[in-house]
Amino acid sequence: MDWSGKRLLITGASSGIGAATAEAAARRGAVLALVARSKDKLDAVAQRIRHPGGGVTTHAYDVSDPEQVGRLAAEVPTPDVLFNNAGAGQWKPLVETEPAEAAAMMGAPYLAAFYTTRAFLPAMLAQRSGVCLYMNSAASRLVWPGAAAYTAARWAVRGLFEAVRAETAGTGVTASMATFAKVSSEYWENNPGSEGHVPKAQTFVPVLSPSRVADIILDGLAAGHEEIVAPWQLRLIFLASRLFPAVARRQLRRTT
Ligand SMILES: NC(=O)c1ccc[n+]([C@@H]2O[C@H](COP(=O)([O-])OP(=O)(O)OC[C@H]3O[C@@H](n4cnc5c(N)ncnc54)[C@H](OP(=O)(O)O)[C@@H]3O)[C@@H](O)[C@H]2O)c1
Repeated sequence: MDWSGKRLLITGASSGIGAATAEAAARRGAVLALVARSKDKLDAVAQRIRHPGGGVTTHAYDVSDPEQVGRLAAEVPTPDVLFNNAGAGQWKPLVETEPAEAAAMMGAPYLAAFYTTRAFLPAMLAQRSGVCLYMNSAASRLVWPGAAAYTAARWAVRGLFEAVRAETAGTGVTASMATFAKVSSEYWENNPGSEGHVPKAQTFVPVLSPSRVADIILDGLAAGHEEIVAPWQLRLIFLASRLFPAVARRQLRRTT
C-alpha cells in the first residue's frame, strides 16, 4: 500500500499510539481524520503534524456513543483505513471493578469499534475497498489476574475483528488486527493502578514505544497483513500458550 493520499481515520488519536500513528502516517503522505474526546489534545496533535499539501481534520467525539459516531460519519469522507484504536480502563480484579467501569470498558474499545465499523462499512463495501483495523492487546489471547473487565473487552474486540473478516471476505474490504504487548504510551498514567497488574511474563518481552508501534502498524498494513503481532517474543508466548496451556496459565498468574 502506498500511503500517499490515503484517507486514514484514527479513533483515540489524542495521545499515545493513535497520536504516534497519525504523525507517522502524515510523514508517509496520508490524509488524516483524528478522533477522540479531548478537543485540545487532538488540536495539539494536528498542529504537530500539519504539513504542506497534507490534510488533517479533528473530530471531538465519544465513539462509545452511537449517536456521536453517527455525527462523525456524516462529517468525514469514507476512509481507506479505519483504525479502531480508542480504548481506556483501569486494570483491576473483578471484585474491585464497579459495574459502571465494566460498562465503560466495553464502551471503548469494543462498542466503539462496533459502532464505528457499522457507520463506515457500508460505504467501504460500496466502493469495494478499504481496511478495518482493530487495535488489540496481549490480553485478547492471554489471561492474567487483575484485569478482568479489560480482558473481556479485548476478547470482544478480537471476536469483532474475526466477524468483520468473515463478513467482508471477497468484497474488496479487508480486516486487520494489530496486537501488542506493553507499549510505553500515556496509557499507564491515564489509567492509574494498571501497571501493578502487569504479568511477570512481560519481563521477557521488550516494551515498545508508540512511534515504533506506529511504524509496525503502517508497514504491516502496507504489506497486506491481516494479523500484526509484535514484538516477536509475544508471538512466541502465544505459540507456547497454545501448545502448553496449563503451564502458560500458571506463569501468567504471577504479576509484578
Ligand atoms: N499502552 C499499551 O501498553 C497498550 C498495549 C496494547 C494495546 N493498547 C491499546 O491501544 C489503544 C491506545 O492506547 P494507548 O496506549 O495509546 O493509550 P492512551 O495514550 O491512553 O490513548 C487512548 C486514546 O483513546 C482515546 N479514547 C478513550 N476512550 C475514548 C472514547 N470513548 N471515545 C473517543 N476516544 C477515546 C483517548 O482520548 P480521549 O481521552 O481524549 O478521548 C486517547 O486518545 C487502547 O485501545 C489500548 O488499550 C495499549
